[in-house]
Amino acid sequence: MCGIYGFIGNGKVEDLINGLKKLEYRGYDSAGIAFSRNGSLIVEKKTGKVDTLCSAINDTLEEKINAGIAHTRWATHGMPNDINAHPQMDCEKKIAVVHNGIIENFAALREKLISEGHKFISQTDTEVIAHLIEKYFKGDLLEAVRLATLDLDGTYAIGVIHADVKDEIIFARRKSPLVITKNEYGSYCASDVTPLISLSRDVVFLEDSQIARLKKGAFEIFDLSGKQVEKRFCHIDWDEKSAEKGGYKHFMLKEIHEEPRVISDALMGRVKGEKIFLKEMEDWKDHIKNLRKINIIACGTSYHAGLIFKYFFESLRPFDVEVEVSSEFRYRNVLIDDRMLNVAISQSGETADTLESIRLVKSLGGRVLALSNVVGSTLTREADKTLYINAGPEISVASTKAYIGQMTVLYLLALYIDSVMGKEHPEKVKALSRLPELVDQFILTQEKTIKDVADRYVGYSNFMYIGRGMNYPSVLEGALKLKEISYTNAVGYQAGELKHGPIALLDEKFPVMAVAVDDDLKGKMLSNILETKARNAHVVAVTSASDHDVSSIVNDVIRVPDVENYLYPFFVGISFQLFAYNVANNRNLNIDMPRNLAKSVTVE
Ligand code: AGP
Repeated sequence: MCGIYGFIGNGKVEDLINGLKKLEYRGYDSAGIAFSRNGSLIVEKKTGKVDTLCSAINDTLEEKINAGIAHTRWATHGMPNDINAHPQMDCEKKIAVVHNGIIENFAALREKLISEGHKFISQTDTEVIAHLIEKYFKGDLLEAVRLATLDLDGTYAIGVIHADVKDEIIFARRKSPLVITKNEYGSYCASDVTPLISLSRDVVFLEDSQIARLKKGAFEIFDLSGKQVEKRFCHIDWDEKSAEKGGYKHFMLKEIHEEPRVISDALMGRVKGEKIFLKEMEDWKDHIKNLRKINIIACGTSYHAGLIFKYFFESLRPFDVEVEVSSEFRYRNVLIDDRMLNVAISQSGETADTLESIRLVKSLGGRVLALSNVVGSTLTREADKTLYINAGPEISVASTKAYIGQMTVLYLLALYIDSVMGKEHPEKVKALSRLPELVDQFILTQEKTIKDVADRYVGYSNFMYIGRGMNYPSVLEGALKLKEISYTNAVGYQAGELKHGPIALLDEKFPVMAVAVDDDLKGKMLSNILETKARNAHVVAVTSASDHDVSSIVNDVIRVPDVENYLYPFFVGISFQLFAYNVANNRNLNIDMPRNLAKSVTVE
């Protein structure tokens, strides 16, 4: 996600740039800084890399400054361009703000502030924060930031500098991280410890709903009522490389651990109580009422997320949902009309086959809805509409958190379409809201078990993944994950297909990963597992927490929580991600950059 860095004390403009460079690994599309000079704020920002910004301000790099804030932006609201880059400012250009996160109620706040006379120039949600602070500023910057944060719904980590307040800078957070440290030269704050560990190894992780006031060489922390709270220092002994990964050995593992947050960010602003709001889709309501078919087009992991949509949507109502791999779709003689919704799913938004497929759809007069993680990517520019998954940059080539984010948004889309068609699902909407916490608990409690299972199976060269119904796409994704990062032959089948051929492969050297959770098809899965056991295959079952019958006949068990049937794919997906990760880690492979693979497949 975006990166924040700031300091107060003895420094140079170049220190801000160096702070940003250490946050580059987080992924971003623009960068900017703000510092004060003779009572005014100087703000410099540029689309593209930190180096582009650095070249643009080459002459000022050596300038001595006593405070500054800096930002790398990963666009969520508004295209990546110079105007939308951070810092964002107030009307008087006295306050500069950098922000990570999403302000859920920014549209309402913006409207109110405009009615009060504030002038906006960007499309960002962040700009409302600068204007709110301006509104509340009466000489005390900490108090103005505190009051502003009380108005914000959503998530934020913010850094604030004021031209007239020379001896302090303010930071605040809710859900998005900030870390603070100090030394004899100054006080420093950043999104993670990477830019801080060369300054001091004793840091304070700001907690949710806390505000920090940084002065030269000292800082204080307050809660949202304005009461000062105690600081708890942690000693960090990571090197810079492990700091980038938040202490995890690989980005893939870090990204799996981000999944609870990814789900809540994908839901943010789109679920209110028992209802789904997809404002992007509002003007297609008539079109949706008239739909006769949904066409999903995607590749790889995104294709598997699309298959889950099909099963989920069909569980809501009988409907024609087709899911096709883009490289096939683009060469088919397809029938497209205006009673279809064509959904192109692509994390990167740059996958060549998916782009060609939507060009085909559009040339035949069809409508395209994109589901992407990258604001301003080619897919989002060429599609008629986009739903963003807001997962933050995914660095590991193997997609994990983006897959979970895609599923979350696809579930929202399915429920939204069905409600426009006349059926509400209040229980399902509520269940989705509980998901981040359940997933968090699941990873926390089951990670070690899954690692132990993976350790026992690391010696095998072949795996067969089987599942049925909604968990069939999960086995395809599980097999893909294992293949791509551990270079192990893994195949995924509908369990009912076993007898039609694949069962011939099985023996004691060919283990089976079976999904047999407590759903309508569990009895069928049980029979399939027995068939594989009869061929001497070792079986690892992913089953529900309360299961007895499956766990008593298999060799190893991964337990997922007892949840509504349609939520199992989240837990099965994560189980298989962790299994693949641990097999590959055991073999000491280059997990984040597997051989022969690229993050964006921009060629056919
Ligand atoms: C996933 O782990 C893969 N790296 C790959 O299958 C990927 O999902 C596929 O290339 C599609 O990418 P996209 O979502 O960016 O279009």
